[in-house]
Amino acid sequence: MSDIEMKKILVTGATGQIGSELVPELRRIHGNKNVVTGTHSRPPLEILKEGPCEKVDVTDKESVEKVVENYDIDTIYHMAAILSVKGEENPWLAWEVNMNGTYNVLEVAREKSLMRVFCPSSIAVFGPETPMDNTPQDTVLRPTTMYGLSKVAGELLCNYYFKKFDLDVRGVRYPGIISNKTLPGGGTTDYAVEIFYEAIKKKKYTCFLREDSILPMMYMPDCIKSTIDIMRSDLIKLNHHADFNLTAVSFTPKEISEEIKKHIPEFTITYKPDDRQSIADSWPNTIDDSAAREEWGWTPDYDLPAIVEDMLRVLEERHKKEEI
Ligand code: SER
Repeated sequence: MSDIEMKKILVTGATGQIGSELVPELRRIHGNKNVVTGTHSRPPLEILKEGPCEKVDVTDKESVEKVVENYDIDTIYHMAAILSVKGEENPWLAWEVNMNGTYNVLEVAREKSLMRVFCPSSIAVFGPETPMDNTPQDTVLRPTTMYGLSKVAGELLCNYYFKKFDLDVRGVRYPGIISNKTLPGGGTTDYAVEIFYEAIKKKKYTCFLREDSILPMMYMPDCIKSTIDIMRSDLIKLNHHADFNLTAVSFTPKEISEEIKKHIPEFTITYKPDDRQSIADSWPNTIDDSAAREEWGWTPDYDLPAIVEDMLRVLEERHKKEEI
């Protein structure tokens, strides 16, 4: 790990699925006052109010600039994005947030000579022409969604800023992220979160993907670990920068439902594939993340049985407290 200490951090999109769990972990490491929650449309959870909270609209460069100046920010985790399904409903908004938002964040980081930026990418950068099994690190990137194409452009832009301006930008291609605190907002992999809430509340779930639709996934603790680890790794060891393949486990809706049934035997699942199926069909089955393993020591902790056990335990508790 590098000895550089990141002291003043801004997280954009901090009230989203990943941001709302990343902020508390960053605050645990760096102190509450050193991590700014950048909010936009979703109201922040109570826990996010334990340190500074500021409205940040990434499509408005000045709004990013102001917070960076006021808090003397040296590191940005740029988590604000419009995901795949929402991006197909409103491709114009996805362009604005994902393309111009990322450009604004990079420009502010360049102008203010920030130390480091995290800019996540996604398995959505791949498309139907990409090899589906054990998808290589460096391969065909011809996605069919607005989200995917904005993430490809984002990766290229981040790598350009590194080469051209020496801006230390890093990023991973997240698989579907499974979590139990904040719901994801409009992705194709969201079924793998919804299924748990429905299993607990109704003991049944109607899945919008086919039973055999395999996708790469990851549990939130692994997601947070990967995000923090790549940001702490030694720059000198990195051959890639903003485009690391990353995975933990791949499974189908049928496989996850069978795992849930081991804990809730009466659980039933039915399948009603909709438009989201074609997005899932264009994404890989499994991912080769050996570059991340070799360059910064990535290894996941949670497999499917461990994810299911922990998700059901946490959501059962929340259900008893009538939080879900
Ligand atoms: N979870 C995202 C989506 O489904 C993929 O990165 O859109």
